[in-house]
Amino acid sequence: MTNETASKGDLPPAIRVTPPGPTSRTWLIRHAHVAAPMGPMLPPGPPSSIVYASGRGSNVTDVDGNRYVDLAGGFGALLLGHLHPSVQRVLGLQSERLWQALGDLYPADAKIALLERLTRLYPEPNALGILAQSGSDAVSAALKTAVLATGKPGVLAFGAAYHGLGYGPLAACGLRESYRAPFAEQLSPRVSFAAYPTTAESAAESLESCRAHLARGDVGAVLIEPVLGRGGVVAPPPGYLAELAGLARAAGALFVADEIWTGLGRAGSWLSAVADGVVPDVICLGKGLGGGLPVSAVIGRSSVMQSWRREAEVVHTATFAGAPLAASAAIATLEVLGKEKLPQRAAELGARYAAELRSAFSGSERVRDVRGRGLMVGLDLGERPGAASRLMKGLLQAGYVTSTGGGRREVLVLTPPLNIDEAVLLGSVPVIVGQIAKLS
Ligand SMILES: Cc1ncc(COP(=O)(O)O)c(C=O)c1O
Repeated sequence: MTNETASKGDLPPAIRVTPPGPTSRTWLIRHAHVAAPMGPMLPPGPPSSIVYASGRGSNVTDVDGNRYVDLAGGFGALLLGHLHPSVQRVLGLQSERLWQALGDLYPADAKIALLERLTRLYPEPNALGILAQSGSDAVSAALKTAVLATGKPGVLAFGAAYHGLGYGPLAACGLRESYRAPFAEQLSPRVSFAAYPTTAESAAESLESCRAHLARGDVGAVLIEPVLGRGGVVAPPPGYLAELAGLARAAGALFVADEIWTGLGRAGSWLSAVADGVVPDVICLGKGLGGGLPVSAVIGRSSVMQSWRREAEVVHTATFAGAPLAASAAIATLEVLGKEKLPQRAAELGARYAAELRSAFSGSERVRDVRGRGLMVGLDLGERPGAASRLMKGLLQAGYVTSTGGGRREVLVLTPPLNIDEAVLLGSVPVIVGQIAKLS
């Protein structure tokens, strides 16, 4: 067994060939021949991406044998890192037992056990849930729940927020007009947007604008990320979410927390909105829930979720919603998160990491802000176009996988596994400092 395969996935980077190496390049050419092109034509020259071959813990290895530290964690989805042994064990057992059941007609035991676990996360008793396949699917289920519960089709959403790209959530994505524009005619016209606040002053303005939207009387859902994820790791000022929830209730709308990014420990608590003192009517979970497998959920107050009971059949489901393999992986993931107190670790380690980054960049003109909540940390590089993408590329060549966020991709986003080795994580700070110094 080599060092690498025996490791727990907490090794520093080892770059053998400047990424992208020749094997990655070959795979990327093959990819370009078969994958529909998304977005603008790439500039000429070598591609800046790599192709993953394997992962363990906080390490990923590309097809050229380069080992990286994964500070992107599958866009925040790998709360436990790659191939967590407990999840792997449970998956092995489940794979010998049952791969697919029959939805809610003849459900799998794993699906029921997962719903039992998830509904216990809701802060009030007797919560009910719906399992889905992706974050976008969970948000769709939440928006449908709001219509059923309130009879009102309108949605109040927020600028720079991201909720997935299915038609329901896409209409409520404030992030990047270009995601919505070509499909505008197919999107709900009943979605309005308020600004996501960053300061006490902007919070007051945002609440004022929410009041005006809600006064219309047709809003059934106020949909918000407790901390913007893809929007660039932005937390609202203290008290904002509670005030917003109060406004929503007064207007007869549900307060829907999209915790797909923030939830399950990523932002330093099981549920970020709840940690901020709000009990949302409905909570969307996804990303890290399945430990790397696709599963998502909506959990909510019993009285609200009961609105799915109708005379005529109304369902939100899909062939693979809550499928046994993903459901059992999710149960194992929740178990490890609890046993290893990872939400708390994320809060503590994330605070140390952000503090180190802040002190490294204090007084720097190159970094406008270091923001964080738990192990979602953003380095705002200000108005320099493309700076975060160039930094991401430099970090890749130094052996760190990261991602970018913000409307103009001006934020370097760091979402490592919650169980990442502390020395490995903190070891990224001088590397980030060095790469930022190289930015023009
Ligand atoms: C807050 C939030 N909601 C929803 C989604 C959509 O999730 P998915 O990509 O699984 O559809 C995302 C994805 O990044 C997200 O960050």
